[in-house]
Amino acid sequence: MHTSAHIGVTGLAVMGRNLARNLARHGYAVAIHNRTPQRTRDLATGCANEGTFVPVESAKEMVAALERPRRLIVMVQAGQATDDVIAEYTPLLEAGDVIVDGGNAHFADTRRREAALRQAGIHFLGAGISGGEEGALNGPSIMPGGSSHAYDLLAPVLNDIAATTPEGTPAVAHLGPDGAGHFVKMVHNGIEYADMQLIAEAYHLIRHTTGYEPQRIAEIFREWNRGRLNSYLVEITAEVLAHRDADTGLPFIDVIADTAEQKGTGRWTVQTALDLGVPVSGIAEAVFARSTSGHATLRAAGSALPGPAPTILGEDDAARFIGQVEQALYASKVIAYAQGIHQIQAASRTYAWNVDLAAVAAVWRAGCIIRASFLDRVRESYTARPDLPSLLADPGFACEIGTAQLPWRLVVSRATRDGVPVPAFAAALTHYDTLRTPRLPAALTQAQRDYFGAHTYRRNDRPGVYHTRWDSDRSEQPIT
Ligand code: 6PG
Repeated sequence: MHTSAHIGVTGLAVMGRNLARNLARHGYAVAIHNRTPQRTRDLATGCANEGTFVPVESAKEMVAALERPRRLIVMVQAGQATDDVIAEYTPLLEAGDVIVDGGNAHFADTRRREAALRQAGIHFLGAGISGGEEGALNGPSIMPGGSSHAYDLLAPVLNDIAATTPEGTPAVAHLGPDGAGHFVKMVHNGIEYADMQLIAEAYHLIRHTTGYEPQRIAEIFREWNRGRLNSYLVEITAEVLAHRDADTGLPFIDVIADTAEQKGTGRWTVQTALDLGVPVSGIAEAVFARSTSGHATLRAAGSALPGPAPTILGEDDAARFIGQVEQALYASKVIAYAQGIHQIQAASRTYAWNVDLAAVAAVWRAGCIIRASFLDRVRESYTARPDLPSLLADPGFACEIGTAQLPWRLVVSRATRDGVPVPAFAAALTHYDTLRTPRLPAALTQAQRDYFGAHTYRRNDRPGVYHTRWDSDRSEQPIT
C-alpha cells in the first residue's frame, strides 16, 4: 500500500467521490474509503486515469496511509454518521492531525465536535461545501471554520480545488473559528431557498398574468440573466423552463409534481434566526412555501375556496408587467441576501467569530448555488465599510431598491388582486416597509403586554421603565 497519501476522503457518495476526484486531478495522492468497499474500488479503478487514489478498507488503513500531519476529509451524512466516523478516528489519530467535515453539518454540532477534538489535540475544520455534484468535481465554493492553524494546514489544498472567482481568486476563505464556516453554509442554503422561491414566484406570476408558455418565459429569464439578475439560479431556471418532457411533449415544468421537498438546512436557518432574534422572513416564507406545497390534504381542502381568476394582459401591458417583475425580483432578492447577511452578523457577534462579510460575498461569488454577479457589489460594499449595519444601508443598493419600490408594489398588488400567491415577494416588501416606517405599532403591542401581564413599557419622552395600573386607577408607576 502507498504510505504517504497527501490527504484522505472517507465517504464516497456523490459529493465525496467527486471531491476525491477533484483532489486527485490537482495532483494529490488521495486515500479513499467508503463503508461499502465496492464503492472505493469502483472509484480507484474507474477514475485511475485522473490521478493517484489509494483505496483503503478501514480507518486503521486510512491512518496508516496518510502523511503527517494527517488530513482527513469526512464526507458522510450530517448528524450521527459524522459523529460515528469521528469517534472511530479519534483514538487512531495523533495530536496535530486535522479532520475536515465537508458535510452540511449543523454549526452547533461543529462547535461541539471542535471543542471535543481540541481536548485530544486534534484539529477540526467544519467546511461548508457548495456547488452540488458538478461543483465538488470542478470547483466548489468552500466555507471553512476552525482554528487558524487547522485552516493553514488545509489552505493550499482548498485553494487548489475551489472554484475561481471572476477576480481570479479561489472561492474559499477562513471564515472564523469553530462553527463559523458551517453557519455561513447554512445561511447560504437559507438564501438559496429564498432565491429559488422568489424566482418561482416570478415565473408563476408571469405565466398567470401573460398566459405565456414556459418556453417563452425561459427567454425572459435568459434575458434577465444578461443583466443585474445574472446568477446560476436564474440561468438554470431558463434551462428548466425551456425543456420539454420527452414522453409527453409537454413543457417539463408541467409534468413535475408541485410538491417541493427539503433536507433541512433552510429550516435550520430559520430556527437559528429565531434564536438569534433576527428577521429572515424571506427565507422563512420559502421554507413554509415548500411545506405548504407538500400538505396534500390542506391543499385539497383549500382548493374549493373562492378567489379571483387572474386577468390575462395584452402584449404591451404584459411587456410592462414583465419589466416590473424584474424590479420586484431584484429588490426582493437584495432583501433576502440582506436578511441572511444580518443573520451571519448577529451570529458572528454572539459567538465572537469576527466573520468578514466581504470574504463571505467573495466565497459565494463562484462555485456555489447562489453565485451571482451582484455579489461583487456586496463584496465591494463590505470591503468599503466592514461595519455596514445592513446591506440596505449601502447607498447603491438603497438607491436601486428605492427605484424598484413602485413596480415592486404594483407587482405585489396585482398578485394579491388576482389571487396569485407571492409569499416571498410580499414578505420582502413588508420587511422593506417595516424598516422605513418611523413609528411601528409595536407601541400598542407593548401596551397590551403591560395590560394583561404587567410586562412594563418604556416611554418616548423620558427614561425609565413603567407599568400602568390598568385594573384600578390607571396611574403610571415607575419601575426603575
Ligand atoms: C449546495 C446545496 C446543497 C444541497 C442542498 C439542497 O450548496 O451545494 O445547497 O447543499 O443541494 O442541501 O437542500 P434541500 O434538499 O433542502 O433543498
